[in-house]
Amino acid sequence: MQALNDRKSSREFDDKTLPLQELSDLLWAADGLNRPTEGKHTAPSASNWQDIDIYVILVEGVYLYDATLSQLKPVAAGDFRASAGSQDFVATAPINLVFVSDYARMKNAKEEIKPIYAAADAAFVAENVYVYCASADLAVVVRASVDKEKLAGILLLSPTQNVVLAQTVGYPK
Ligand SMILES: Cc1cc2nc3c(=O)[nH]c(=O)nc-3n(C[C@H](O)[C@H](O)[C@H](O)COP(=O)(O)O)c2cc1C
Repeated sequence: MQALNDRKSSREFDDKTLPLQELSDLLWAADGLNRPTEGKHTAPSASNWQDIDIYVILVEGVYLYDATLSQLKPVAAGDFRASAGSQDFVATAPINLVFVSDYARMKNAKEEIKPIYAAADAAFVAENVYVYCASADLAVVVRASVDKEKLAGILLLSPTQNVVLAQTVGYPK
């Protein structure tokens, strides 16, 4: 009740980085494995397709969250934060998450309905992040205003992978 009461969007972020344990907790809350023996996650997904991947844009580089191993896999070295969105704060906030849906995982789904499932599945992850951030006194905002093509290039996405939403996280300013 307290976390939901405190959930809100913020657009002012301190540039201080988060401790790795905090980042790990944030990602687990977002879409970590909560039933490892079943391979199931904190966020639901249509038909359990698990189509959403979380890319993590940090000061030092871009990573892909591996929920199974609870690890960050390096994608690109360097500071790509300024490419994470059109709003000024994305370039200085310590964490930008990008939710990417892989349409290839949506077996037997009609093409026209894939973007709807992708949006719904990404939104559940984003809400998990909102509620975690409320509980941990972190600032957060989900964002649709991203240059999807530019981000796809930076994240090295395949043709079946689609950027759905981004979310900025950090300490409040
Ligand atoms: C799908 C979606 C896209 C959004 N895109 C942006 C965005 O690009 N930039 C932004 O600053 N906020 C964005 N927001 C945040 C909304 O502006 C915010 O949730 C709304 O104003 C309500 O405020 P609250 O989250 O504090 O309740 C988005 C929210 C949603 C659900």
